[in-house]
Amino acid sequence: MKKYYLTTPLYYVNAQPHIGHAYTTVAADVLARFWRSSGRPVHLLTGTDEHGSKIEDAAAEAGLGVKEFADRNSAAFRELWSHLDIRYDDFIRTTEPRHESRVQECFARLIESGDAYKGRYRGYYCVSDETYWTETDAPPDEKGRRLCPNPECRKPLQQVEEESYFFRLSKFQEPLLRHYKENPGFLLPAQRANEILRFVEGGLQDTAISRTKVKWGIPVPGDPEHTIYVWFDALLNYVTAPQSGGAFTDCWPADVHIVGKEIYRFHAVTWPAMLLALGLPLPKSVFAHGWWTVEGQKMSKSRGNFVDPREVTREYGVDAFRYFLLREMPFGNDGDFSLDALRKRYNAELANDLGNLVSRVEQMVDSYLGGAMPGRDQDGAPSLAKEFAAKGPQLAARMEAFDFCGALGLIWECIGRLNTHINEKTPWKLVKTDPEATREVLFDLVRGLRIVAGWIEPFMPQTAAKMHAQLGVRQFPAPLSPEQVLAGETTGLGKIHKAPPLFPRK
Ligand code: MSP
Repeated sequence: MKKYYLTTPLYYVNAQPHIGHAYTTVAADVLARFWRSSGRPVHLLTGTDEHGSKIEDAAAEAGLGVKEFADRNSAAFRELWSHLDIRYDDFIRTTEPRHESRVQECFARLIESGDAYKGRYRGYYCVSDETYWTETDAPPDEKGRRLCPNPECRKPLQQVEEESYFFRLSKFQEPLLRHYKENPGFLLPAQRANEILRFVEGGLQDTAISRTKVKWGIPVPGDPEHTIYVWFDALLNYVTAPQSGGAFTDCWPADVHIVGKEIYRFHAVTWPAMLLALGLPLPKSVFAHGWWTVEGQKMSKSRGNFVDPREVTREYGVDAFRYFLLREMPFGNDGDFSLDALRKRYNAELANDLGNLVSRVEQMVDSYLGGAMPGRDQDGAPSLAKEFAAKGPQLAARMEAFDFCGALGLIWECIGRLNTHINEKTPWKLVKTDPEATREVLFDLVRGLRIVAGWIEPFMPQTAAKMHAQLGVRQFPAPLSPEQVLAGETTGLGKIHKAPPLFPRK
C-alpha cells in the first residue's frame, strides 16, 4: 500500500539546530503522527545536508576535519529530534554512500540524455545560501560591493568563473507551467503559487550544477575535477533515501515536501524540473511555511539570538514547545517567538483550559465514584462526546490542509465546551441531590477527555500518554479514535486517578 511520504529539508550541519529547524521537523512529525493514528501507513524522512563550501568553511573555523565536524553536528540534530519526540522513519546524511552513489547515477543519466552539459560559468555565488546569482540579480551597492540579494542573507558574494556542468532548466519552463496549472494542489499554500508562477513565466535559465573550486562534494562521474553542486546533491535525497531502503515503490511520489519559504524555489522549480528530466513522477505538493522572528528581531549570528529548543523545553517541557510552535503562527504565515507569548499560552491554554480541566474531572471521579468509570451510554441521551466524535472529519480536513492552528483551535473549542459543561452542571452540588445524574455528567466528561487525549497525541505525545493513563485507558500508545471511545472499548479497564498537574503554572 502506498505510504503517506513526507519530508523535511535536510539541515546544514554548519551550525547547531535552532527553533527554525525544530519548527519544520515538529510540523512534519505532527502530520506523520496524525496520519499514522488514522491508520494510514506513513514514511517520514529527515536528515542532514553535509557537502559544499559552507560546511567546509565552518569545519575549518572550528578547527576540525570536515567529516568529523559533520558527524558531530549531524548527531546534534538526531539528538534534538529524539529529545523533541520526533518519530522519523529514515534519517539520511548526504555523505552516506547510499546517497552519493545514486546522486552520481542521476548526474550520469542527465549527461547521457543531454539535460546536463559542460560549459563555463561566469557569475556570483553566495556561500551562505549555496546559491548562484547573476550579475543582474546582484547589482553593486553604493560601496561597489555585490551582496546576496536574499534579504535574509545580504552576505558578500564570491565572483566565480570556472568550467561547469549545467542543467538544462530552460527546457522545463513550459512543462512546469503546465504542471502547476493542471495540479492546483502542487504549490502550497495557494498564496505562494503566484510568486513561483511569475518567476517561471519570466523565463528559466540553465543552472550550473558542478564546481571545480569546491573539493568537499560528490565527484562528477567520469570528471572528478568537478564536484556536484550541493543543491543538486541534496534535493536528490528525497528519492535516494527511499530507493536505498527498498521503500521507493511504497513511497514515491512524495505526498508533501515541507520546507521554509526561503528554499521554496529550489523545491517548487528546480526539483520538479530535475524529476521531469529523470523521468520520475512529481511529488503531490510542496508546502512553504513562514519564518519565525524572535522577540521581534531576525535571528542572526551577529545578534546571537538563536532560540535553542533545549532551553525552552527545560523550562516548559517538550509538549508545550511543540504546541506553541503550531498554535502561535498559522502554518504558511510568518510569526514571532517570545517567551512572554509562550508563557501566556502555556498558562491560559495548557495549564488552565486543559490541565485544570483534567485535574477537576479526575478529582470528582475519584472522590464521588472511587475512581471507577462512571456509568454507561444512555441511548439517545445528549452527549458532548458524541458531538466531538462527529467533528472527526472536520479535524482531518484541517490536517489534510496543513492547518495545524485550525486543528488545535477545533480541539480547544471542545475543551472549552467541557469546561463550560462542568460549570453549568456543577457536579459538586448535583452529587448531593442526584448521584445518578452526576454519574452521567462525569461519564460524558471522561469520554470527552478521552477523545481529546487521542486528538492531541500528534501534537503533544507525552501529555496524551499521561492523559490516557490517568483516564483509565490502557490501550496507549495507540491513540484511541473517537469511535473506539464511544464504543466503550476501554471502559472499566483501569481506574481513573488523580495525578500531578499536567502543566504546572508558570
Ligand atoms: N540544506 C538546505 C536544505 C536542503 S533540502 C534538500 C537548508 N538547510 S538549513 O539548515 O538552512 O535549513 C533550512 C530550514 O530551516 C528551512 O527550510 C526552514 O525549514 C528552517 N528555518 C531556518 N530558519 C528559520 C526561521 N527563522 N523560521 C522558520 N524556519 C526556519 O536550507
